[in-house]
Amino acid sequence: MKQAKLHIDRHFQVGEVDKRIFGSFIEHLGRAVYGGIYQPGSPLSDKEGMRKDVMELVRQLQVPVVRYPGGNFVSCFHWEDSVGPKELRPARPELAWFAIETNEFGLNEFADWAKKAETEIMMAVNLGTRGVDDAKNLLEYCNLPKGTYYSDLRRSHGVEQPHDIKLWCLGNEMDGPWEIGRKTPYEYGRLAAETGRVMKMMCPEIELVACGSSLWTMPTFGVWESDVLKECYDVVDYISMHQYYDNYDNDTAEFLANSTAMDRFISQVVSLCDAEQAKQRSSKKINLSFDEWNVWYHSKEADKKIERWTKAPRQLEDIYNFEDALLVGEMLITMLRHADRVKIACLAQLVNVIAPIMTSDKGAWRQTIYYPYYYTSVYGRGRVLQTLVDSPLYTTKNNGDVPYLDAVMVECDDGSLSLFAVNKSLEDDITLSCDLRQYEGFRVERHIVLDHDDMKAENTEEHPDTVAPKSNGASSMENGHLSAVLKKHSWNMIRMTID
Ligand code: AHR
Repeated sequence: MKQAKLHIDRHFQVGEVDKRIFGSFIEHLGRAVYGGIYQPGSPLSDKEGMRKDVMELVRQLQVPVVRYPGGNFVSCFHWEDSVGPKELRPARPELAWFAIETNEFGLNEFADWAKKAETEIMMAVNLGTRGVDDAKNLLEYCNLPKGTYYSDLRRSHGVEQPHDIKLWCLGNEMDGPWEIGRKTPYEYGRLAAETGRVMKMMCPEIELVACGSSLWTMPTFGVWESDVLKECYDVVDYISMHQYYDNYDNDTAEFLANSTAMDRFISQVVSLCDAEQAKQRSSKKINLSFDEWNVWYHSKEADKKIERWTKAPRQLEDIYNFEDALLVGEMLITMLRHADRVKIACLAQLVNVIAPIMTSDKGAWRQTIYYPYYYTSVYGRGRVLQTLVDSPLYTTKNNGDVPYLDAVMVECDDGSLSLFAVNKSLEDDITLSCDLRQYEGFRVERHIVLDHDDMKAENTEEHPDTVAPKSNGASSMENGHLSAVLKKHSWNMIRMTID
């Protein structure tokens, strides 16, 4: 048994949680749209063709914002192809993922879906093959009420009310050699500045996200952020971060240490933003949009064999296991611990494509990673308390000495407390203690645990509940002192309330 302590003072707060950190992502890729959120003709769909079972799971997650339509897809996308009468929409070779995009589902259908799913849209513009003019036209189509060419075009498409999209990504991963229309930081920074300037001329209330590095390991990481922000600091509000982790080495302890890498990555991007703020003598802060994050590697070999130019092939269909759920839980904890600067984050993605939700023609089910995402989204809103973790450490190859325990406490909007904690130890339970006498009268309401003996256990269509949460954690509050047992390799949520 290992021992760990948390030190908390209710007056020491990291900041308010921006609910948009529980966002997700739908790209025109694989079966995310076709066969994922949209399947006309299916008995599981509504009359507009939206999968009702998927919608229900998305609503349960309370996803506040969904990034759309890409991803790499956006860098070659003509949004005009995706609106208007369906029979006139062109099918295109989709060059990011080598599939056929029929455009049967487009911008207005997505806006309908978002409304039904009770979520907002985070829209990406194409800065790969297009630029200022097209971004401006798209914004006019989406957000202007009427009386101009593109707003009236939308109305002629049967959409009277503007979509009123507040959050816009200026391109996607423009540093990536794989990206269509890749740019140098100077080229991209200038384009982002001019595009953003024109977009804000039309709709000053919108918020803009500039592309940061595609991964921490990009050779240009750091230089990219500085050079891009140098050009567009005044215009943009956020810089993006993307990161996917893998366990190719099949080394679970090393894999679970990646929350330390993520923590360091966030701190470094904060420093890069603040260094630019200093250089520009600006009073404005740039915050972070971690708009792609997840585990991604299980499907990569299989994806190499996919036939080109088919419609909605099974692509990036990672089947997640129990250890992936632990890391996803840790990544959420890490972002909450940076709630003062991480204001937006998108679990990439939402359905079928590296996703918490999977579908077949017969139904939808929850992957293992659904659960930490669900609980953190639903119970992790409020103010993050500075959570000092006093935990034994273990030594890793890539991340130095890392704590066995990742944890964060949130004082929720309804006055309750949520503690999210992952015990990464593969051998030992952890006895956790925390002095919470400032929260007089609080008691443990429940302690949810996600654990499994087999780190590789998966949820499948046939066995959807192999990895599922249980309300059987051992924790108690005595005289204002919380004590809990966090089982070896487990994700935990401890909820504390006052009667
Ligand atoms: O989410 C899958 C892909 O990962 C996205 O299209 C791209 O932005 C990233 O490389």
